[in-house]
Amino acid sequence: MADVLHRVGVVGCGTMGAGIAEVCLRAGLDVWVAVSSPGRADRASARVLGALDRAVAKERMSVEEREEAAGRLRFTADFAELADRQLVVEAVAEDPDAKHRVFKALDGVLTDPDAVMASTTSSLLVADIAEATSRPEAVVGMHFFNPVPVMPLVEVVRSARTSERTAARAESFAVDVLGKEVIRTQDRCGFVVNALLVPYLMAAVRMYEQGVADAEDIDRGMTLGCGYPMGPLALLDMIGIDTITAVAHAMRENSDDLIVEVPPLLIRMAEDGRLGRKSGRGFFQYDEAS
Ligand code: 3HC
Repeated sequence: MADVLHRVGVVGCGTMGAGIAEVCLRAGLDVWVAVSSPGRADRASARVLGALDRAVAKERMSVEEREEAAGRLRFTADFAELADRQLVVEAVAEDPDAKHRVFKALDGVLTDPDAVMASTTSSLLVADIAEATSRPEAVVGMHFFNPVPVMPLVEVVRSARTSERTAARAESFAVDVLGKEVIRTQDRCGFVVNALLVPYLMAAVRMYEQGVADAEDIDRGMTLGCGYPMGPLALLDMIGIDTITAVAHAMRENSDDLIVEVPPLLIRMAEDGRLGRKSGRGFFQYDEAS
């Protein structure tokens, strides 16, 4: 086992950041979450603690374990407070400028010269994100999947400048500490999973736009006909319409492939705030936003 990373930071506390914070807490780690403003900390905290409450309700965790885990969680709007972290996982919006700002700031504050800086990017190049730092050898991709507590996979992405040690530490963290499975991928647009998944999802949106079948039947086609755990439109609602739009857009920027062109319907849904489960409505209607 490569040397263990105990002091973990997570930057951003949306769906992915909150899920990563949750699995780190459940692995017994000390987790500090950086959010963009003090006002966001309350919402972020409610999200992570709410997930721990659900774990208690499902009897995956005792009340005492939940209290102990909550005591290891801390929120800050000040990057400087991440200074002593050994691993920081960035999970902010899929926007190159936002990622660059985070990595530049982390580079400035992390005092451990060996600290690992991981990005959860799913469509940008790790090498490009690493450019914002003075230590590109310490930057690696750790692409988690939604819902993070359930999906076993982490894609570990090594750029041409990521050191062997950084990649090994990221991999060991995912496998030995979080209990995930890892696949190793090159630093290319969409890595393995999104390079295959996003064209499929965009094709499903186009099919819906064209009225080939209604939303229920498109999804039933893939669940009943192919054994997928959920249909493509329900999956889009779960990932988040804004998130997938940004991912597909970034992939389109990096490729000539028209198949990842974002369909107009998806853009309209994102603009209208029909973001899927998180807003209560996407292709389908949900009782409450989650
Ligand atoms: N957080 C925590 N646990 C969750 C959860 C969540 N958001 N959603 C479901 N679960 C748990 C449930 O509590 C349940 O656990 P239990 O059996 O111990 O009680 C278990 O997962 C199964 O859930 P359900 O019985 O409610 O529902 P399903 O059996 O339909 O499973 C699913 C739900 C796990 C989401 C399943 O439908 C699935 O695997 N869907 C595909 C998800 C997928 O493809 N994810 C990848 C998205 S792509 C991505 O993230 C990349 C990005 O870059 C775009």
